[in-house]
Amino acid sequence: LFGLQTEKFGRSIHSFETIDSTQKEAHRLAYNGAVEGTLVIAEEQTEGKGRLDREWHSASGKGVWMSMIVRPDLPPQKAPQFTLITAVAVAMAIEDATGITPEIKWPNDLLIKGKKVSGILTELQAEADKISSLIIGIGMNANHEPDDFPDPVRQLATSLYIEKGEEVSRALLVQTVLKYFEKYYSIYISEGFDPIRMLWESFAVSIGKRIKATMITGEIYGKAAGITSEGVLILKDDQGKTHHIYSADIEHF
Ligand code: BTN
Repeated sequence: LFGLQTEKFGRSIHSFETIDSTQKEAHRLAYNGAVEGTLVIAEEQTEGKGRLDREWHSASGKGVWMSMIVRPDLPPQKAPQFTLITAVAVAMAIEDATGITPEIKWPNDLLIKGKKVSGILTELQAEADKISSLIIGIGMNANHEPDDFPDPVRQLATSLYIEKGEEVSRALLVQTVLKYFEKYYSIYISEGFDPIRMLWESFAVSIGKRIKATMITGEIYGKAAGITSEGVLILKDDQGKTHHIYSADIEHF
């Protein structure tokens, strides 16, 4: 990748015209010992996947569809923090590329004017009580026109092109995401999660707002109070009780 400004991330690249899913390929590579920083990237995915087993629509040549292999020496409970580190890196890259500041909706959505422009999927391969690898998938809607999104995604999604009115360089986006990810990953390892949490909160849209959290176990209405030093969402429900939310869908009111 021309113009790469990293030491590790993106130094080994597996690039595809078409693939089932960069995420699946990264899992296969990680399983076979690929080094930290390995990047899988594709023009088109035929089986792009989102969180909670959802389909991720990946129009050919329009977006950034990439997965990174990360091998931190940490216990599996730390994995969710990586979604937040990545969200900060992607938010900064979008800001650099377009001048638009996106908002982060916990845990993994990047929005512009309330519409989704990027999503992050962090998956784990663990052995005993240690992460052996994290597969971090990033999807960014870069140069889509409204018609490039199928119904009903069109109403909920946007692209950098739609918002800015100009095409963006996908190569530059990839380089910038890798640059910021490497930077904040290293800050996280040396200084802990707090500096990341503060940055994340500066982009966060949910904090202080009324939300509905939908989980497998049910729904909770309340106010998002912040995130813990583990990256877990703190929700104060309408009865004043505090909940720690590890995984949910969030809606705003
Ligand atoms: C979400 O918001 O639900 C997460 C979406 C993650 C999509 C990316 S695109 C690159 C990588 N490969 C996949 O199949 N999924 C992730």
